[in-house]
Formats: sequence, structure tokens, C-alpha cells
Amino acid sequence: MRITYYSHSCFLVEAGEYRLLFDPFLTGNPLAPVTSNDIRCHYILCSHAHDDHVGDTLQIAKANAATVIAPFELADYLAGQGAKTIDLMLGGGRDLPFGRVQLTPAFHSSSFERSGGNNLAMGVASGLLVTIDGEKIYHAGDTALFSDMHLIGRKGLDVALLPIGDHYTMGIDDAVLALDYLCPTLAIPMHYGTNHKIEVDPHLFAAKAAEAGHRVTVLRPGECTDLVQ
Ligand code: NI
Ligand code: MN
Repeated sequence: MRITYYSHSCFLVEAGEYRLLFDPFLTGNPLAPVTSNDIRCHYILCSHAHDDHVGDTLQIAKANAATVIAPFELADYLAGQGAKTIDLMLGGGRDLPFGRVQLTPAFHSSSFERSGGNNLAMGVASGLLVTIDGEKIYHAGDTALFSDMHLIGRKGLDVALLPIGDHYTMGIDDAVLALDYLCPTLAIPMHYGTNHKIEVDPHLFAAKAAEAGHRVTVLRPGECTDLVQ
């Protein structure tokens, strides 16, 4: 299985014939190493409705005839825009040809930003727990630290994708505490460096995590890592 980082919270996971794209914020993302036209995928997983997570979802979904998996209200909205969707709700999951997707709680909000502060509420924010190729990947979405992460960790995680940028999500120190709950074989930091409010050093996270006994790989935008079972 291969995990490629496209910066912010966007990852491509490839296993066998399947390609899963997470939170595809590419257009307007200063660190994105690819454009939406470069993407080939079968599924798009959206943790919540904020622009820096839904991003290019509609365009990529239509160009690839890909299925979008998202929390209920967001999925419903995207379906109304012509996307093929699977609507899930926190705690709920679905078996799919490549494995399984389950939504997990996230302490955050979910809305479309509209001018004048007239944001359009889009239900709850989520994390994404994916089983593919015998591996369990937890994409935390945008979230604060919460102790029920230990319940997610009890499922036996191979990879945890964790926000570290502070300001809108966990910062570095809380993300290290999250690792104590999640105990993944490998953690990869996300949600940093794309704007001045979330400018943190991912290598500081890696160093603090290592001190606490956790393994972290920092991926540069466009870089990938292969997981061998
Ligand atoms: Ni957000
Ligand atoms: Mn975000």
C-alpha cells in the first residue's frame, strides 16, 4: 500500500486496483504539488465541509466517476450537485469493494464559508477510519484532542494521519498526546504550513513523538511512503 501526501490534509492511498483520495484541497492550496486534473481515483473521502477539505471534490468526483464518502449533510449536498455519494454518520461504517470506511467523531465544525459570515451549516465534522489491504488508516480530519481516541486506537491502527497545525485543530503537544491514545504503528502529520495561522514545524512533532515512543514520518508535499505488511 502506498500513501502519497498532497499537503494540508490531502492524501492519496493506493492499494491493489483501488485509489482513495482524502480531503482534496488542491486549488488555492499554495503547497499542492498536483492539480485536480492530475488526480485519478475511485473514492473521495471528505472529513467535513470546510473549503480546505472539500476543495476540488466535485470536479474530481465528476471527472473520475468517483464515489464521495462524507458525513450525511455534506454527502446530501454533494449528491444535489451531481456527485455519486455514500452518506455516513458518526460511528457508522460501510463495507466496500476495497475494505471498509467508518466515520469517527471529530471535535470541530462543518460549514461552507459564505461572504458576510453567512456560513451554511453542513452537519458535523468527522474523522475517517479506513480498512484497506489489511491495513487500518485513521485520518483524524480537523479535531481537538479527545480521550475517546483510545477507543479508535483499540482497533489496532497501522497509520494515523493527525493534524498538528494548532489554531483550528490540535497543535503539536496535543497531537503527541493523541498518539498515546491511538498507538499507531506509524503517524504522519497534516494540516500545517499552508497558511500563516498554522505554520508549525512537523519535525518538532516528530521529535516530541519519538521522545514519547512513537514513530512519525514527515512527508513533503508530493512525497509518498510504502507500507509493507
Ligand atoms: Ni475545518
Ligand atoms: Mn481545516
